[in-house]
Amino acid sequence: MGRAFVYVILGGGVAAGYAALEFSKRGILPGELCIISEESVAPYERPALSKGFLLPEEPSRLPAFHTCVGTKEEKLRHKWYKEHGIELVLGTRVKSADVRRNTLTTTTGETISYRFLIIATGARALKLEECGIRDSDAENVCYLRNLADAMRLVDTMQNSAGGNAVVIGGGYIGMECAAALVTNRIKVTMVFPEPHCMAHLFTPKIADFYENYYASKGITFVKGTVLSSFEIGADDLVKAVILKDGARIQTDMVVVGIGIRANTTLFDNQLIIEKGGIKVNGYMQTSHKSVYAVGDVASFPIQLFGGDIRRLEHVDSARKTARHAVASIMAPEKRRDLDYIPFFYSRVFTLSWQFYGENRGQVVHYGNFVSGRFGAYWVKKRRIVGAFLEGGTSEEYEAISTVIRFRSPIEDMAQLEMLGVEFALQI
Ligand code: FDA
Ligand code: NAD
Repeated sequence: MGRAFVYVILGGGVAAGYAALEFSKRGILPGELCIISEESVAPYERPALSKGFLLPEEPSRLPAFHTCVGTKEEKLRHKWYKEHGIELVLGTRVKSADVRRNTLTTTTGETISYRFLIIATGARALKLEECGIRDSDAENVCYLRNLADAMRLVDTMQNSAGGNAVVIGGGYIGMECAAALVTNRIKVTMVFPEPHCMAHLFTPKIADFYENYYASKGITFVKGTVLSSFEIGADDLVKAVILKDGARIQTDMVVVGIGIRANTTLFDNQLIIEKGGIKVNGYMQTSHKSVYAVGDVASFPIQLFGGDIRRLEHVDSARKTARHAVASIMAPEKRRDLDYIPFFYSRVFTLSWQFYGENRGQVVHYGNFVSGRFGAYWVKKRRIVGAFLEGGTSEEYEAISTVIRFRSPIEDMAQLEMLGVEFALQI
């Protein structure tokens, strides 16, 4: 049994939604495109899961955040796919792929063939048992990657109302979930191995601002150590976490955000893998010419970094790499290398920051770290390569992104510090 399509998108997350939009804009015939997704709903904006979805009042629920609501594009509900003749094969996991034969096989035993394949399998949350921790499948231990995880987290928060939570990990999930837990009136202790939060992006000075803000909301930080084991009660729930330094923290629930692994397994011995992802060129094309990879699973060249191959784990790159791959497939005569500016952001409590470029080189901080209007530039070889801003206006965020696009030259670091965001606004 089998079906054949011209285009198949494997994975039904953020990148899949934006790829479908681009296909429809460029004109496909009904029945030419199919999306296969393990999830049972049409593609949605995953960032909502750690923000609006976790609000105690008027939480966001589907269909409110289907792609492509995050941008100025229309929202793609199930109906939209139907109207555009796009086949959604939902609740279906692909168990094997044969790149040479252009086929995918699902767990239901169906073989789906394609002329062009876009791999958009994203990533999975790294599990504590992979770090040697037992009992991490207890019902009050939560991860957050998909809708099912988010619903479980909401249930667990409701069962822990007025109680305590331990958040393992000081990255994006840790920071955003800690804020959500506090908003749900749960007391939070964050545990992570680094000396400060968001160690992969923040400088100690930037981290200090957010840690002080979190502390003002009652959040406690336990830094420089990791979890060693869980203490399990008679009801099979985690009652306490035991840390490597011997400390014991009593808790009603645990949220884990210790990083992700790209879902490359189906292609590990068939396509070139680099930096933990499927390696693609500037068209998002893999080492096999009919196969493209986009979003979290793709490692692609970044012109701004001299063509360095990077795998990014952010929504803006998922959206743009997806659209770029479709453009490369549908208009091969006009195809060009993607020129992508890395862009990350987060929103917690009433805070909001954006970052463009890379955080390498000499750092220049500016602004007021007490009032929360501050930022930083990273300077390498006398050019600005990274820019961070907390509490900016849309005009200011636009300005710092322009600075990065042009890698603005800089002669006087003291003047850069003094001008701060004004430097960007003057470009
Ligand atoms: P994504 O993970 O979205 O989709 C992958 C899809 O492939 C899933 O539908 C999955 O089920 C499917 N799949 C995988 N293997 C399969 C198989 N074998 N068969 C069938 N289907 C398969 N970024 C940001 O810039 N700002 C933000 O605020 C946030 N916030 C945020 C919150 C939370 C909770 C998460 C988990 C992530 C974010 N992110 C983010 C990151 C952002 O959501 C992420 O970069 C994109 O979702 C990546 O899009 P992809 O389509 O590549 O993967
Ligand atoms: P992350 O890479 O941001 O952070 C991982 C954190 O895990 C590290 O900061 C470290 O503190 C911690 N860690 C690693 N090993 C540990 C251990 N053994 N014990 C305790 N802590 C340990 O990953 P994440 O926070 O899990 O986020 C997962 C994915 O979701 C990422 O791809 C991220 O980009 C995405 N996401 C992004 C946003 C955003 O961009 N605003 C928001 C939420 C999630």
